Amino acid sequence: MRTLAIVNQKGGSGKTTTSVNLAAALGERDRRVLLIDLDPQASASMWYGIKDSGKGLLDVFTGDAALIDQVQETLVPGVWVIPCSTWLAGAEKALAPEAGAESILKKRLAKLPKDRWDYCLIDCPPTLGTLTINALTGADEVMIPVESHVMALAGVAQIHKTVEVVKERLNRELEISGIVACRVDARTRHSLEVVEKLRERFGKTVYKTVIRENIRLAECWSFAKPITQYDSFSYGAKDYRDLAAEVLKQERALAK
Ligand SMILES: Nc1ncnc2c1ncn2[C@@H]1O[C@H](COP(=O)(O)OP(=O)(O)OP(=O)(O)O)[C@@H](O)[C@H]1O
Ligand SMILES: [Mg+2]
Repeated sequence: MRTLAIVNQKGGSGKTTTSVNLAAALGERDRRVLLIDLDPQASASMWYGIKDSGKGLLDVFTGDAALIDQVQETLVPGVWVIPCSTWLAGAEKALAPEAGAESILKKRLAKLPKDRWDYCLIDCPPTLGTLTINALTGADEVMIPVESHVMALAGVAQIHKTVEVVKERLNRELEISGIVACRVDARTRHSLEVVEKLRERFGKTVYKTVIRENIRLAECWSFAKPITQYDSFSYGAKDYRDLAAEVLKQERALAK
């Protein structure tokens, strides 16, 4: 299983949109994907139509609930979800004083049946708190969605630093799978310049695919469907399928 934490401490950068729609696009390509909603805002859970999952995931962090018991099937082929609710916000406070709190998710992930899923995508909250650090500790790779706005660039450097620290102290294997430019508006110079700057600064780490601004992506949340099902022929669906293809290509590179 390839485990990717979808991380950016900046709010509204496209983490949830990317987690939800990349999961569906990978599912279309016959991969079995487990999407973990690690953001107490529970946006990814709601996107998959799960309204209130109660204390489930909080108990995984603070009690002895097993991750496997939190898994829910979805109507999207190839996608399973571990939802959360606002209860999960309690994890930050409850875990703060505990030694080794950063590795709880890693330990729980290790208990999932081997080979049950090909991918695990973790939608993280817009902070670098305990939940995000758990995701970085438990994951093999980090995907960084970046809103194509100049103010977003400084945030990427910050995530790089955090990844380095986690790598040194908690998870030697951690790699950045890629930076993905989101909400790119090809009609504005500003947006394209930001993508250019990202490529200048971070080179090949930036995915070739950019996710264009597409109203259909913003709409489909309220219909509880990923873009591939809500509007299969939209730009949004095409972009996330292209991103999935790039992610799949990395499989071959990883296998070498
Ligand atoms: N490509 C896109 N085209 C149009 N709207 C988009 C696109 N990507 C994201 N959005 C919209 O931007 C907003 C923020 O996106 P999203 O929720 O994915 O970001 P986030 O990083 O998960 O936010 P948070 O930090 O609050 O969890 C949402 O309203 C979403 O619908
Ligand atoms: Mg989100």
